[in-house]
Formats: sequence, C-alpha cells, structure tokens
Amino acid sequence: MPDGDTLTQPADRPAARTAEAPAKDATGPANLPKLIAENLNVFYGEKHALKNIDLAINRGEVTALIGPSGCGKTTFLKALNRLLDIIPGTRTEGTILMDGEDVNDKSVDVTHLRRRFGVVAQKPDPFPFSIHHNVSYAPKLHGLAYGKQETDELVEKSLRRVHLWDEVKDILDQPGTNLSGGQQQRLCIARAIAYDPEVILFDEPCSALDPLATARIEELIGELRGDYTQVIVTHNMEQAMRVCDRAAFFHMGDLIEHGTRDEIFEKPGHHLTQAFISGRIG
Ligand SMILES: Nc1ncnc2c1ncn2[C@@H]1O[C@H](COP(=O)(O)OP(=O)(O)OP(=O)(O)O)[C@@H](O)[C@H]1O
Ligand SMILES: [Mg+2]
Repeated sequence: MPDGDTLTQPADRPAARTAEAPAKDATGPANLPKLIAENLNVFYGEKHALKNIDLAINRGEVTALIGPSGCGKTTFLKALNRLLDIIPGTRTEGTILMDGEDVNDKSVDVTHLRRRFGVVAQKPDPFPFSIHHNVSYAPKLHGLAYGKQETDELVEKSLRRVHLWDEVKDILDQPGTNLSGGQQQRLCIARAIAYDPEVILFDEPCSALDPLATARIEELIGELRGDYTQVIVTHNMEQAMRVCDRAAFFHMGDLIEHGTRDEIFEKPGHHLTQAFISGRIG
C-alpha cells in the first residue's frame, strides 16, 4: 500500500466484493442471521422514531442503512448495542436478537453486549492518547492483552489490518489526533477491531473524509467482509452500492423495504425508494 492517503486508484472503484465466500464470523449459530429486529419500536419521549421494524442483518455481510435525514438510521444502530439506554426518556419495544438471544433480556450484561460491537463514528474520534494507546487501551482494560510483547503484537496486527502500520510504526508514541482525517478514521477502525468485536457499526464513516481517504475506508470494509458483520449508515448512494451486500431503506421511522444490493438499487419495489436513490427526495 502507498504511504499516507496517497492512494493512486480512483475513488469510485468497487471495494473487493467477496459476498459469495462463506462468512468467517463463526460465533453463534451459523444458520441464523447475526441480528434480527422484530417489531422494533423506539420512542424518544413522544417522538416515535422507529415504527414496527422487522429487519435481519446477515452474518459476515455488509448491510447499508439508507434514507433521508431524521428517518431513524442512527437510532436503529443505537438500538442494536443498547446505546439508547443512556438517553433519558427513550423507550424501546419489540425484540432484537443477537445470535438468537434477546439483547434486552434482563440477564444480559450490557457492558459485555457493547463489547461485541465496534463503533465507528462520523467524525474520526481518536482518544487524546498516543496512537499505540488508542489501540491498546480497550484490550488491556478488558484483559485481552497482557504484558508489553503481547500488547505490541496486538497493536501491530490491528494497525496492519487497516493498512496503517507502515505509516505510523515509527510514531506510535505520538498523539492519534496528529494524523490526517483518513488515517484517524483507520486508527478508529483499528481501535474497534483490536478488542475483537463481532459486529462493526459505521455511522457515516466517510462524511468527513476526502475521496481518496473515503476509497481506503470502503476498500477496508470490503476486506473485513466475512470476518465481521458490518452495518453502515451512509448518505452516499454510490458508496452504499459499492460496499453493501444488502440495503435497508428507512423513511420517517418506517422501514420501507430491504433486500439485496441489486434489488434495492437496480429494481426497488417502492416508489419512495426509487425517489430516494435517484435523488428526487432527500
Ligand atoms: N435524543 C433524541 N431525543 C429526541 N429525539 C431524537 C433524539 N435522537 C433522535 N431523535 C429524533 O428521532 C428521529 C430519528 O433520528 P436519527 O438520528 O435516528 O435519524 P437519522 O436517520 O440518523 O438522521 P441523519 O441522517 O440526519 O443522521 C429524528 O426525528 C430525530 O430528531
Ligand atoms: Mg444519523
């Protein structure tokens, strides 16, 4: 890989698509979708933000959530790993199954549940620590890496996985915030995968990045396909088409339709989906 964000390939080339390969995420029953929302409703006080959502997220695949601003995409992500719990006045009804188990069941340890998810935000948000500490912090905290050698190996492996190692191996003690935006976002993905999540949630991960940095993130999502179940919110329809196996179109809290990439982008069944992907409604 070239240094920095100086990728020489055009930003619109397709990310590697290996959807035909069997998912490598071996956790949980292989015949079940990784996550299933059944009749999911979310209320922020009086605001009914998600309405009767039934949606399965397949193991090892990339699922794109698309739809106009305010339609409930981020809310859906936050329902999956129970981040909604920390917003006062929020109520969730219905069921979310992860590997067949209800994430909202009383027996679920929420901290443990959240560790099964990596989260990559819209704006790169490295911790105000060194590059090394950004990656090693959570694994050390959760006992996934012991001692200097094991920690260093995990840091290197995680940074190599996101193609950042060659760019940062000599500056591991420098602040993560010193990196370029695209490098920071790859650092955040390295941080997410270092503690071995099963699902990665991306909420508009490229909206703050230039086209070349965006291309590298898309390429990375393609490479992570199969090893992780990935859910990506994006406003960029070309990006959704490049990276996803399946897409779900939300509109004003309703899930209008979902299906394979080709079903949604080539022959959408609903006029609202058609209008949205063609840019007639935003
Ligand atoms: N903490 C909150 N309190 C009250 N209402 C909220 C809260 N968070 C979101 N909402 C409302 O719920 C609806 C869905 O919001 P959400 O953030 O999920 O939309 P979104 O599809 O992610 O939008 P965007 O594309 O702009 O990020 C919106 O009407 C929003 O105003
Ligand atoms: Mg959002």
